[in-house]
Amino acid sequence: MTYLKNTWYVAAWGDEVSREPLGRKLLDQDIVLYRREDGDVVAIGNRCPHRFAPLSMGKLQGDTIECPYHGLRFNGHGACVLNPNGDGDIPPKAKVPAYRVEERHDLVWFWGGDPEQADPALIPDLSYVTDPKTRTVTGHIHVDAAYELYIDNLIDLSHAQFVHNDQLGVDNYEDAQLEVKQADEQVDVIITIPNANMPPAIRGITGEDNKRGNFVLAAHWQIPSIVTNHIQFLDADTNEALHESFGSHLLTPETETTAHYFYGLTRKHRLDDKDVDNAVRAWHLKGFTEQDKPVIEAAARMMGDETDPLAMGPAIIQTDGANVRARRILKKRIKLELEQESQA
Ligand code: FES
Ligand SMILES: [Fe+2]
Repeated sequence: MTYLKNTWYVAAWGDEVSREPLGRKLLDQDIVLYRREDGDVVAIGNRCPHRFAPLSMGKLQGDTIECPYHGLRFNGHGACVLNPNGDGDIPPKAKVPAYRVEERHDLVWFWGGDPEQADPALIPDLSYVTDPKTRTVTGHIHVDAAYELYIDNLIDLSHAQFVHNDQLGVDNYEDAQLEVKQADEQVDVIITIPNANMPPAIRGITGEDNKRGNFVLAAHWQIPSIVTNHIQFLDADTNEALHESFGSHLLTPETETTAHYFYGLTRKHRLDDKDVDNAVRAWHLKGFTEQDKPVIEAAARMMGDETDPLAMGPAIIQTDGANVRARRILKKRIKLELEQESQA
C-alpha cells in the first residue's frame, strides 16, 4: 500500500510556518513553506531548478524566496521572477511546482495530488483546536516508520496499557470493554474500563489524587491518516468528567517508509495554567518520543520492506477490528485512485 494523493494532509502546525522558510518533505516531494507579508502560507517546490540548492536555505525578499546559491527568486506560484545574473534571462525551466495549501484550525493543510481537485470543504473538522473555550498544546516529530503503522497504533488504544503502562496503565485492564463502529469511511473504537484507577499521566494534568472512575478512550479515524481521540475519566458515582481531553494525531507520509507525526492535546479546564501545559508537554515527550516511537520503529524494521502487516499473514486479535477496517477502506480508495490515474 502506498498513499492516497488527492486528499488533504497536514504540512505543519500554523506556528511552525513563519517568515523563515521551512523545508519539509511530504509525499516524496521536497517542499518549502513560508508566509507571505500578508500572513498567507505559500508551499512551493524546495529544489531550485538551476543547481538544485534547497530554497529553504535562502531568504525571503518580500513575497518571493531567493535561492541561497545564485540568487534566482521565485514567487508563491513557483515562477522565477528574477535572475540577477548575466543578461537576467529567465529560462522556461526556471520554475518549481506550487501546491494548494489552506490554513485551518491552526494547521496548514496541503493537497497531495492534482491542485484542480483540491476542495477545502473536505478538510477534516478539527475546530475544537481553535475553540476559545479550549487550550491546545501541540508538537511534531519525524518517524522512521510508514504512516500506516502509526494509524494502527493510534486507532488501537489498547497499546496504552503496555507501551504507556507507567503513564496510562490501569490495575484492572481485564475489565476493559471494546466497541468498534464503522460509518461510511470512518472508524470509531471505544475502550471503556469501569472503576479504574486514575492513571499517572491524567493525574499530572488534573492535579487530582488517585481517584477511581470510568476510564473511556475513544479514537476516531478518517481518510487519509487523521486520528482524533476523546479521552475521559469519569467520576464513578456522578459520571462527571474529572478529565476530558481531545487528542489530534495527524500523520503525513514523508516517503513510503517514513512519516511526519503532528500531535496535539486539547483541554477544556485550567486553560491558562502553564503547569498543565508543561505536564502535557512532558506526557507528549515521554509518550510519543520515548515510548511509541521506539516500538513502532522497531516493528517497522522487523517488517523489512513491507508496510502492510495484513500482507504478512499476522495473528489477528479482537482489538485489531478497527485498524483492519481502516486499512481496508484506505486500500480501496488508493486502488480506485490508481485506476483513475491509469485511465487518464
Ligand atoms: S542553485 Fe538556485 S540559483 Fe543556482
Ligand atoms: Fe501510544
